[in-house]
Amino acid sequence: MAAVLTSMRALFAPAPAFVIDTETPADIVAREALLDRAMGPDRRNKSSEKIRRGRIPAEGLALVARDVSGHVIGTVRLWNIEAGVSREGRAIDALLLGPLAVDSAQEGKGIGAALMRAALMEAKKRGHGAVLLVGDAPYYERFGFFAEKTQHLVMPGPFARDRFLALELVHGWLEGAAGMVVASGRMLSQPTGLRRAA
Ligand SMILES: CC(C)(COP(=O)(O)OP(=O)(O)OC[C@H]1O[C@@H](n2cnc3c(N)ncnc32)[C@H](O)[C@@H]1OP(=O)(O)O)[C@@H](O)C(=O)NCCC(=O)NCCS
Repeated sequence: MAAVLTSMRALFAPAPAFVIDTETPADIVAREALLDRAMGPDRRNKSSEKIRRGRIPAEGLALVARDVSGHVIGTVRLWNIEAGVSREGRAIDALLLGPLAVDSAQEGKGIGAALMRAALMEAKKRGHGAVLLVGDAPYYERFGFFAEKTQHLVMPGPFARDRFLALELVHGWLEGAAGMVVASGRMLSQPTGLRRAA
């Protein structure tokens, strides 16, 4: 009887309106269009963009939210960086998160939060120690991001200090971190040279 009730409940439960998935090359056009709509043309002038330009995201850390038809309605990516150096002068590996965006028609349904949680869980699973970002503290504080751990770090360009936030996935990972954030991810592959026409 219990099994029958469980099956009946499953049958009538509302289907989830979105899923979180790994981004594929087929998602790139939709993702870029979504980012243009959500963040405007200035999005490419941000300091974070300097770190992302010409690089590929950290392994397994480019995620999308899809609606029931499979369309991209949300995006988040994380990037390999060095978050300054430790007191001993050792470069500190970390991740930079962003951009995060959700289709404006779909806001307030928990899609942004689902993307954040999935990305942070995957980052932790892959052994990363900390995630940095530049964004609205009132939004990101709910996921554990605060400005405290970035106070001796700088971005490579103008940034608002109260928007420069970090979350340690491993306790103490950013202890003593100071200096400039620099990109350390793999470069997009460059053309190997033009082939001469026959
Ligand atoms: C920010 C963004 C990703 C949130 O996505 P979402 O799917 O609507 O988020 P969720 O449904 O998980 O959370 C909604 C909650 O976040 C709050 N919120 C959304 N944006 C916020 C912001 N910038 N600052 C503070 N709170 C914010 C909402 O008021 C809502 O609060 P509630 O839970 O108390 O009702 C989305 O609004 C977006 O793409 N914005 C434009 C791009 C952008 O600014 N991205 C970077 C954020 S700094």
